[in-house]
Amino acid sequence: TVPVIAIDGPSASGKGTVAALVASRLGFHYLDSGALYRLTALYARLDEIELDDEEALAEAALTLPVEFRDSQVWLAGEDVSEEIRAEVIGMGASKIAALPAVRAALLERQRAFRQAPGLVTDGRDMGSVVFPDATLKIFLTASAEERADRRYKQLINKGESANLQQILDDIEARDARDAARPVAPLRQEPDAKRLDTTELTVDQAVETVLGWYQS
Ligand code: CDP
Repeated sequence: TVPVIAIDGPSASGKGTVAALVASRLGFHYLDSGALYRLTALYARLDEIELDDEEALAEAALTLPVEFRDSQVWLAGEDVSEEIRAEVIGMGASKIAALPAVRAALLERQRAFRQAPGLVTDGRDMGSVVFPDATLKIFLTASAEERADRRYKQLINKGESANLQQILDDIEARDARDAARPVAPLRQEPDAKRLDTTELTVDQAVETVLGWYQS
């Protein structure tokens, strides 16, 4: 079977960056599952679907005209890579991610990314629900303060205004919602290896994952 490296963890832990680099080092495909939730949230906003209309949101998730190509994310032929990163879309994604019908609608779409020679994927439930038979499961985390600090620097580097305390509050609110929801709550799987990146550089985190995969 096609190998899968499943990297789960809380918001802004750096799992996307690490997962994409591991995929490129191994020549594997990469799936950012959070992007699918963000795309559904963006689509709902554009199509004026209420964030509690579970049936309409699930239908949108199932039929979302999305493409991942040239390292960008496309919705109905439009590059929305930047748009889906907005905090308001992240919050919307976290809300709709609590709806079982939305999660069910995205399940097969995510599994379809498992193609030779292999897949690296990141999210909240890659190791628990989507790829329970993953070759390697990692729970990638960092302290809330460190995660807030990283996101803050990202925003400042992009020339955007940012408030560190506000970011920390948002991160903690999202963590709490992701952990408390009844469906696919964020938690470390018993068979996942824990990787705390609070004191690690991106390179060190990537090397650790590659080392575990190759051992
Ligand atoms: O970049 P960040 O970690 O902040 O967010 P993300 O990974 O893009 O995910 C956005 C939201 O989608 C999260 O707050 C989760 O609630 C949800 N999500 C999920 O429920 N399951 C996944 N596999 C991926 C994301």
